[in-house]
Amino acid sequence: MKTKTINFDKKIDRLDTDCVKYDGLQSYFGVVDAKPLWVADMDFATPKYVQKALKKKLKQQIFGYEIPSDKSFEAVINWQKRHNLELQKEDILFCSGVVPSLKVAVETFSEIGDEVVVFPPVYFPFFSVIKDSNRELVESNLILKDGKYEINFSDFESKITPKTKLLLLCSPHNPVGRVWSKEELTKVNIICEKYSILVVSDEIHSDLVFTKFTSFATINPTSLILNAPSKTFNVAGFNTSYAFSLDTKIIKQFKISAKKHHITSLNSLSNTLIQSCYSKEGNIWLEQLLEYLRKNIAFTEKFFSKYFPVVKVIKNEATYLLWLDFKKSGLKHKEIKDKLLKDAKVALNDGVTFGKNGKYFFRLNIALPKKELKKSLIKIQNYIGNKNESK
Ligand SMILES: Cc1ncc(COP(=O)(O)O)c(C=O)c1O
Repeated sequence: MKTKTINFDKKIDRLDTDCVKYDGLQSYFGVVDAKPLWVADMDFATPKYVQKALKKKLKQQIFGYEIPSDKSFEAVINWQKRHNLELQKEDILFCSGVVPSLKVAVETFSEIGDEVVVFPPVYFPFFSVIKDSNRELVESNLILKDGKYEINFSDFESKITPKTKLLLLCSPHNPVGRVWSKEELTKVNIICEKYSILVVSDEIHSDLVFTKFTSFATINPTSLILNAPSKTFNVAGFNTSYAFSLDTKIIKQFKISAKKHHITSLNSLSNTLIQSCYSKEGNIWLEQLLEYLRKNIAFTEKFFSKYFPVVKVIKNEATYLLWLDFKKSGLKHKEIKDKLLKDAKVALNDGVTFGKNGKYFFRLNIALPKKELKKSLIKIQNYIGNKNESK
């Protein structure tokens, strides 16, 4: 059978669909006329075969409470085999979202006043789930070395005290686009084992990788892993995720706590969503999506290096989120922010929301039709850089 080519070039109007990316511009950025290149969802249609399955489900007429079906467990078990994981149904818990699970994990595996480590710049809810639980936030900043972010292992170890109980790992790492290598994860694990620190690994971006991904569960089976089909299939709005651990005690503890926090209810489309996203057709979608993203990333890198080299694109190994370094622009962070939003009229994520070391950085979402991406890059160049360079 011939594989159908998916059309990622099609522009889809998302305005007035109640999506946060477009319709939330006013409340998040205070403007309505900027091109949204921020929150982590894609401007590509959710796969046709997933849409078809959801439409079929919508015909069932009654939408009462649902339980996770065996087929949903099977779908997760099969999908996670790509990461060399052999899960059992008992290892898995379906939850409403990865962020709620992060919060519950913090509350389950640490006490008030305990310390929880993160590696900034990092996805900003990593800070709030710790602070809002009255735990101490311990930041071990990543270091930028030869254009690539690395974990500062000696700094990490030096910050550990008897009160340090947890590490929230973002793997792959949003926003810097790193896929942590097996060697790096092993080093993390050695330190964590030495001080009895539990690792909670957020692997929501693990399918969107351009190099080999290693799940932390294969490094240390006692870790807790959080994942979802949200990013891979552009279905984040369904709030359907799952947690798993190969350690019976850890997953049992998490299951009890997650139920107490009421984060285990599925919505009426969750089962259909999991089963359809993680079917065999998912592989075809993913292969073509990665190819398109790869090209958009290469295009963006080439664009900046050729026409506007003061902006450095940090080499990314995962996600459709590019971490842009504006340090050489000669502008203050606030000036760059204002120029992007008010002059170039593009809405990128402000780097400082990911940590203090995000100053002079902005996060660009390149998951949109190439033509649209190009228009936005030209606007950035024209309004921040020298107007004449690309002519
Ligand atoms: C690293 C990471 N974790 C979690 C999420 C959100 O997960 P959820 O919508 O399931 O809470 C995102 C979304 O951007 C993310 O980048």
